[in-house]
Amino acid sequence: MEKMMDLLAQELSAAFEKAGYDSSYGRVTVSNRPDLCEYQCNGAMAGAKAYHKAPIVIAQDVVEKLSDSQVFSMAEAVKPGFINLKIKETFLSGYLQKMHTAQLLGAEKTQNPKTIIIDYGGPNVAKPLHVGHLRSAIIGESIKRMGRFLGHEMIGDVHLGDWGLQMGLIITELKHRQPELVYFDESYEGEYPKEAPFTIGELEEIYPAASAKSKGDESFREEALEATHLLQQGRPGYMALWNHIMRVSVTDLKKNYEKLNVTFDLWKKESDAQPYIPAMVEEMREKGYAYMDQGALVVDVKEETDTKEVPPCMILKSDGASLYTTTDLATIVEREKLFHPDEILYVVDKRQEMHFVQVFRCAKKTGLLPQETKLSFLGFGTMNGKDGKPFKTREGGVMRLEHLIEDINEEMFHKIVENRSVKDKDARQTAQIVGLSAIKYGDLSNQATKDYIFDIDRFTSFEGNTGPYILYTIVRIKSILNRYEQENKDTENGEILEAANESEKVLMLALTGFPAVVEGAFEEKAPHKVCSYIYELANAFNRFYHETKILSEEDERQKASWIQVLLLTRKVLETSIDLLGFSAPERM
Ligand code: ARG
Repeated sequence: MEKMMDLLAQELSAAFEKAGYDSSYGRVTVSNRPDLCEYQCNGAMAGAKAYHKAPIVIAQDVVEKLSDSQVFSMAEAVKPGFINLKIKETFLSGYLQKMHTAQLLGAEKTQNPKTIIIDYGGPNVAKPLHVGHLRSAIIGESIKRMGRFLGHEMIGDVHLGDWGLQMGLIITELKHRQPELVYFDESYEGEYPKEAPFTIGELEEIYPAASAKSKGDESFREEALEATHLLQQGRPGYMALWNHIMRVSVTDLKKNYEKLNVTFDLWKKESDAQPYIPAMVEEMREKGYAYMDQGALVVDVKEETDTKEVPPCMILKSDGASLYTTTDLATIVEREKLFHPDEILYVVDKRQEMHFVQVFRCAKKTGLLPQETKLSFLGFGTMNGKDGKPFKTREGGVMRLEHLIEDINEEMFHKIVENRSVKDKDARQTAQIVGLSAIKYGDLSNQATKDYIFDIDRFTSFEGNTGPYILYTIVRIKSILNRYEQENKDTENGEILEAANESEKVLMLALTGFPAVVEGAFEEKAPHKVCSYIYELANAFNRFYHETKILSEEDERQKASWIQVLLLTRKVLETSIDLLGFSAPERM
């Protein structure tokens, strides 16, 4: 199905041509004077120079050719040379009718499906999930869903951080607390216990304790580094502990992501890339890309056009240990081998940008990937508290994700029971659904690359540009549709008639924008565009709702037409929030 804007431009281009001008001047945009017109074309102004004519003359010539247009009910040339346009009611209602039954609501399934690995979430095992990981999960999930909607093969990988110092810290702390455990007995050769020597609760206490200790206690830190090293070399007792840590934390992580309505296709981890490192390093050396610099093995990744310094990409430390870059490079090797992707997209804190510049350049330069494979980085900004500083608990600590979710749900629960009488259990369930919309919409409605302020009061409000407001609008539509159905009328049939009033026309025009918005939002990796679109759509709907007595309308054809418009509005809103990664309750 063609996009509304394209159809309008075609009509205009044809008119330019008929009037003897080049068709390329027929570009149409949404009007910036909605009081005067719905769309506008500035082509006459653009063409004035080429044709040595006053723009208004060209505009008049073109407008003349639009007098019997099936698309525009009004085409007006206004000084100095704008063409103001209004769309024909029958054309508009016909378009919506088609959109209603079209695949993907009129958006186009890609002709050229790509395999895209999307690396997001990125939690670190054994460290509790904190709000810093929230953005990656929310933004990545939404982009994954949009790509899938448009027909791409999206492979979401959580890429667990399981291989770093945190593991050595935990092992060392355990060793201090319980040296008698069999894992620390180097001469032990039997089987290791199946049960982990800790619960997730204990694990979450052990890590921060160890991390704090390592900051003040140099010998403890040394010990932890050594333990990390031994683990990476495969010492059996440590491997057994690592397996326990992994099992216990992954179970917990999955529970948390489920609460966020975030799912991964792959639960790969940094350590999975380890087997690829030796051959990769060897090849970099052999081909002459990697060289020794002050004991470390590095690859130069500077480019002539660089405006800021891009340091060499470090491959191995002087003690031979691998680094974050090494792991990411080896992960690329693995991904290429397993999936042969067209693109790998990383959704990571923008403070890691330089790391990815180095990794991408090094991967391309050393030929880990075909030249045409795209490596992209979507770096997101920081989630700040109302004070403009990184979000913290009231006590000033790092906010755990679980607690943030609990706080929001509690707030939502109170709002819901205040609003209407409802059983506690139902209200709790609804609060969870609405709470998630508050968090996700609050995040996604900001441009991903910018920092934003996480403001619980604003995000949970039922009014304004918020998730709960969007859900409230959907619930309102559902309730009208339910009442209509209770009168035993089927909602299947009904033709969309011409807009009955101005507010309905505005709503209809807004509906036609959906296909272009989703395609653009995916293209630009910009879920915030879907948010601003549905906010505008919800506003248009609510205005129409307040100005129109839908259910008491006596003209049955008119009523049935409005029901179709409601159905379409609900479908567009529900599809959009699904792409953003949340859903609407039945009531709220
Ligand atoms: N675990 C990392 C962190 O918390 C994020 C991982 C991002 N992905 C990657 N391939 N480096 O900082």
